[in-house]
Amino acid sequence: GGDILIAPSILSSDFSRLGEEIAAVDRAGADWIHLDVMDGHFVPNITFGPPVVAAVRGASRKFFDAHLMIEPADPYLEAFAKAGCDGITVHAEASTHLDRTLQAIRGLGCKPGVAINPATPETAIEYVLDRVDLVLVMTVNPGFGGQSFIPATLEKIRRLRTLIGDRPIRLQVDGGVAPDTIGAIRAAGADTFVAGSAVYRGGTEVSYRDNIAKLREH
Ligand code: DX5
Ligand code: ZN
Repeated sequence: GGDILIAPSILSSDFSRLGEEIAAVDRAGADWIHLDVMDGHFVPNITFGPPVVAAVRGASRKFFDAHLMIEPADPYLEAFAKAGCDGITVHAEASTHLDRTLQAIRGLGCKPGVAINPATPETAIEYVLDRVDLVLVMTVNPGFGGQSFIPATLEKIRRLRTLIGDRPIRLQVDGGVAPDTIGAIRAAGADTFVAGSAVYRGGTEVSYRDNIAKLREH
């Protein structure tokens, strides 16, 4: 695919000023806003839930891309949809009935996505590709920002690009995306890039603009 999307992860922003931090990356050139939801069970960290998403929804009109690192996800899908998420991505590893969960997300009027951890093979999601608008390849083990990109995921991205074929699915990567890694990830076939620390470093809107532009250069 031609057009790439940059989705800053607010995990690396200043949570005491979350609304302003979202508005700042919006003005600085973000395509989507990536929301990392962690439950302290599926991943070893806790972030925020639907009330916080609803509270910051007014800060930007851009696509709210929710990445649910929670198990189970099904009981909370409706709350995330009502909070204003545009896309809801669930982990294959956290879903017993993944096909049903993806149908439920679409039924709520959101775009369904499926994520896989670094150790999960691409074949785990082969039979749900007709149910999703997005596939998320985790390029770090989820739970924290600022970790190093795992190179073995490049081969998985290439294989997924082939498996996806001509379906209208975005191929997203998340973890360790930075100016020095994005070129190889893009060459492997990804088109949608989550970046937390690489966007929010500097702490000002001017630096966010420069950081996003640097990601697009490669
Ligand atoms: C990891 C999260 C990521 C994270 C990425 O569990 O899903 O979205 O914030 O952070 P960076 O870009 O710093 O690796
Ligand atoms: Zn994420």
